[in-house]
Amino acid sequence: MDKLQILGGNQLKGEVTISGAKNAALPIMAATLLAPSIHVLKRIPKLRDVFTMGELIKRMGGKVEFEAGICKIDTSNVDKFEASYDLVKTMRASVLVLGPLVARFGQAKVSLPGGCAIGARPVNLHILGLEKMGAKIFLEEGYIIAKTSQLKGTKIYFDIPTVTGTENLMMAATLAKGTTIIENAAKEPEVVDLANYLISMGAKIKGAGTSIIEIEGVKNLKPPSEYEIIADRIEAGTFMAIAGASGGDILLKGCDTAFLDAVILKMKDAGVVFKNSKEGLRVIGPKKPYAIDIKTMPYPGFPTDMQAQFMSMMAVANGTSVIKETIFENRFMHVAELRRMGAHITVEGNTATVRGVKKLKGAPVMATDLRASASLVIAALIAEGETIIDRIYHLDRGYEELDKKLLSLGAKINRIKSKPQ
Ligand code: EPU
Repeated sequence: MDKLQILGGNQLKGEVTISGAKNAALPIMAATLLAPSIHVLKRIPKLRDVFTMGELIKRMGGKVEFEAGICKIDTSNVDKFEASYDLVKTMRASVLVLGPLVARFGQAKVSLPGGCAIGARPVNLHILGLEKMGAKIFLEEGYIIAKTSQLKGTKIYFDIPTVTGTENLMMAATLAKGTTIIENAAKEPEVVDLANYLISMGAKIKGAGTSIIEIEGVKNLKPPSEYEIIADRIEAGTFMAIAGASGGDILLKGCDTAFLDAVILKMKDAGVVFKNSKEGLRVIGPKKPYAIDIKTMPYPGFPTDMQAQFMSMMAVANGTSVIKETIFENRFMHVAELRRMGAHITVEGNTATVRGVKKLKGAPVMATDLRASASLVIAALIAEGETIIDRIYHLDRGYEELDKKLLSLGAKINRIKSKPQ
């Protein structure tokens, strides 16, 4: 397993180009299963999760090619409708193939994702929604087995606004008979990007980005000649936290600031300065951030996917910050590792209290999930001395070439490749 070796203390300066959004790329790749044709997707990030989604589609009989940020997927000959446990266990977002498969082929067999480092994360709302649309669903030997002769439009209300649940049912509804209404839908920009791709294929969708989405089913879909996915708002937010924590000066190119309101406002309160220009968004970190409280919420609230990175910044802030995690029940795995680096953090239930310290100190630490890994990278960049971060395959799941981008900003970072077995 690769490790990262980071010598902290450098002020990071320069520019970085934000990659395509992982959480938009994954559902849009799954959506290609809805239309038997060649799909050309631009700005697809080179990430482990993206390759896993490609592998899933290949095993179903699709052809998938990646070249220079473009992913070409041919779903004309898909003739297997299964997502097996060995792939689903490495990426929960594999469940996104469920809706498209049932909608186009009337059948699917998808492994139930288990729990994961950040919580139990059930998919009951995905299943209930498909059942309401007329699919018969059985759970057998750890697999969700879904069958239907034709999905039917219906009204669905989510108890919790689930992102991939909204995406799964929105995709399923595009080919259903009649109109589907999803109430209390997730409003994340990635849901809107998926809706835009579906609309460009001929789907009839209204209200994506609001809490009520209406989808009128059509007979078939046909992809546009190409489609470019949105930039990754969480990668952009992570670089903001890097600048904010290290007193850096980083120009972010290609990111859409409209999707980052909550993060930018909180960063400003913490003393980070933003300058928008033709070239991009310049982010200038303060000498020492102010302590700011945050509470994670569904979009447009402060994203849970930025909580860990913000915590690293708060670990060296002036004062005490209270961080409340309301989306996932176990998303404080980074706390124990940050403490090993000298952070002063206590956790009670879903609330972490972070008392800013003068300096963090380098230490050997272990990455536990994607965003926790990013928070350890930030901590390592500002710590005194050397940090070795183990198990960085988590990082490679969701950040495109983070070590290379950091190197170009002046970080002292080195990837220690694991020896081939
Ligand atoms: N939930 C249920 N039942 C369901 C579905 C969700 O109880 O059927 C609960 C979850 O347990 C959680 C809450 O609803 O407490 C919200 O979860 P959601 O379903 O919205 O999460 P997700 O769709 O599985 C996506 C992102 C996550 C991101 C969350 C929240 C993708 C591929 N994943 O997950 O991204 O944290 O939304 O914004 O879009 C990441 O990129 O690091 C990541 C974990």
